[in-house]
Amino acid sequence: MTGNRKDDHLNFAAAQQREEPHRTPWDDVRLVHHALAGIDAADVDISTSLPGGVRWPLPFYINGMTGGTETTGRVNAALAEAAAETGIAIATGSMSIYLRDETVLPTFRVLRDKNPRGFVMGNLSADATPDQARRVVDALEANALQIHVNSVQETVMPEGSRGFGAWSENIAAVVEATPVPVIVKEVGFGMTRETIALLASLGVTVADTAGNGGTNFARVENDRRAGKDYSFLADFGQSAPFSLLDATTLPEATQRPALLASGGVRNPYDVVRGLALGARAVGVAGTFLHTVLGETGLDAGADGTERLVQQITDWRDRLTEMYAMLGAATTQDLSTTDVLISGELAESARLRGAD
Ligand code: FNR
Repeated sequence: MTGNRKDDHLNFAAAQQREEPHRTPWDDVRLVHHALAGIDAADVDISTSLPGGVRWPLPFYINGMTGGTETTGRVNAALAEAAAETGIAIATGSMSIYLRDETVLPTFRVLRDKNPRGFVMGNLSADATPDQARRVVDALEANALQIHVNSVQETVMPEGSRGFGAWSENIAAVVEATPVPVIVKEVGFGMTRETIALLASLGVTVADTAGNGGTNFARVENDRRAGKDYSFLADFGQSAPFSLLDATTLPEATQRPALLASGGVRNPYDVVRGLALGARAVGVAGTFLHTVLGETGLDAGADGTERLVQQITDWRDRLTEMYAMLGAATTQDLSTTDVLISGELAESARLRGAD
């Protein structure tokens, strides 16, 4: 432990990325190959759209991670430079710390300063008031605001909250008062169709299912603890593909937000898997953090930026090729591509009535 939560999160999440590659729930999603379905790559457009007139050139984005300390500010600078060069949308980590201490603003605001024309999202917890949400949006000149719902993380976090009862009401008030789209996200434990339908009733137009299989915040927080052991929660929650399948079982007439998917995304195939299951775009946190930090840890200098620009550009090109191979001219087309679901994912989806 460094004694600082933001630095701890970064260090423990980065350490998880250095573990041996493992199977993830995305591996239970296979795209069906139709050998004559292909189209010309020149006819492919991988851009995507979200409610509120939002258009992103890439169907994947840098999910909310960090800011608030000198080290995390440097990581944000590297992420922001890569975002500016590639046009990828990017989010800050939680800015609750900024609400208590305005001097930390530059460590978040670097996302806007280095990326003046980019799509930048702020991030706050569901404890936030409309006034706090507006302060963050203004301070960042944010294009959207992520509100995270993280009851599992808080439960394991040594200094975590136990008060989640006001969240739905808070979210409705923040959506009502915030001048930019509000994206409600989990932090790696997934969402159900019930949560998704409830969010729609609160006025939320975009939800990020942020499921398990990638950065594991039950483990991160347990690793930060001395004394109490919460390791039994390490497998808690649902995956993003499960959430996307679960949403398909909602009655046709149910209002629902546009869905984003994240959690455990490792490569362009995982992005395609999420889009094929109906996500409008797919979020990446741990994998890109690992790229920026490199094998050694905190060398978030120019090399980190270069590595991330290269990776994002590669993913863009691989996605264009895969869309062509699968016969999808647009991201919307990809959502009707045939998929096969197997293993534990198929079993749990079937239990919830998805086939
Ligand atoms: C996160 N994540 C996160 N989410 C959020 O809404 N607010 C936050 O402050 C943070 N902080 C944070 C720090 C670090 C270092 C990481 C790696 C992640 C969660 C993130 O947005 C995402 O939901 C999960 O990490 C799952 O995605 P990956 O990492 O498996 O791609």
